[in-house]
Amino acid sequence: MNAASQIVYLNGEYLPLEEAKVPVLDRGFIYGDGVYELVPVYGREPFRMAHHLARLQRSLDGIRLANPHTTAEWEAIIRKLVSLQPYDDQGVYFQITRGVAKRDHAFPQGVPPTIFMMSNPLPTPSRDQVERGVAVVTADDNRWQRCDLKTISLLGNVLMRQLAADVGAVETIMFRNGFLTEASASNVLCVIGGTIVAPPKDNLILPGITYDAALEFARDAGLPMEIRPVARAEALAADELWLSSSTKEVLAITSVDGKPVGDGKPGPVFRKVWQIYQDRKARPG
Ligand SMILES: Cc1ncc(COP(=O)(O)O)c(C=O)c1O
Repeated sequence: MNAASQIVYLNGEYLPLEEAKVPVLDRGFIYGDGVYELVPVYGREPFRMAHHLARLQRSLDGIRLANPHTTAEWEAIIRKLVSLQPYDDQGVYFQITRGVAKRDHAFPQGVPPTIFMMSNPLPTPSRDQVERGVAVVTADDNRWQRCDLKTISLLGNVLMRQLAADVGAVETIMFRNGFLTEASASNVLCVIGGTIVAPPKDNLILPGITYDAALEFARDAGLPMEIRPVARAEALAADELWLSSSTKEVLAITSVDGKPVGDGKPGPVFRKVWQIYQDRKARPG
């Protein structure tokens, strides 16, 4: 075994990445038939693991796939995988597919799921991105109606993200029927007249663990907030816009389609919540 190779988890085994192989008839490969999670790990301690495992259960229920492990088993596997990596801050990615079967859309019977997990260094935003904010572009949200499930069928999100990549922006924020939904791989929060305004967690957005954490931390700090639909014009005129995700944490958007947000700098409410997030992420739980 090559000493430098990354150890990943596949169907009960811990093995070097290059030895982890999945048959081509896996329904994840053929149909994108599976769900996934990503748990951020700070100083080798998973952050909000219970929330991620609860969302995993919700996603599995949503695609009618039995959970192959108890919460305690998932926690043990995650902790073991973390212990096998040489870095302290990690992003544990794991996906469960409906297994390997002859190609047929209907669910196969009696087929074990495929479980794959890997843990990479956590790619948090650079100092420059935190201090200056990031640019996004906008697009109409043309994804399916179950964006609340964290499925591996991500082509809609991939195409959206590429619109940003094409012009050197970080994200694509989306609007459906004139209302803000989310970004291609993150949630979007607004600050309007000093109040944090976030779109509701309905079927059109992923219920972000970081979205919840940011709102919880802001509530604890006594900051005013509202959960309600945000019209496009209102979002584009907001004083502050933020992205939230397990890898971006909270990150200020300072330009939308080339136009500045507010005064073009990360705003005061963002800076407050970002600081609380930095303090709280170092605590377990
Ligand atoms: C489409 C989408 N929305 C929101 C999020 C943010 O979710 P979380 O904060 O749980 O990372 C993600 C994260 O991958 C995502 O892919």
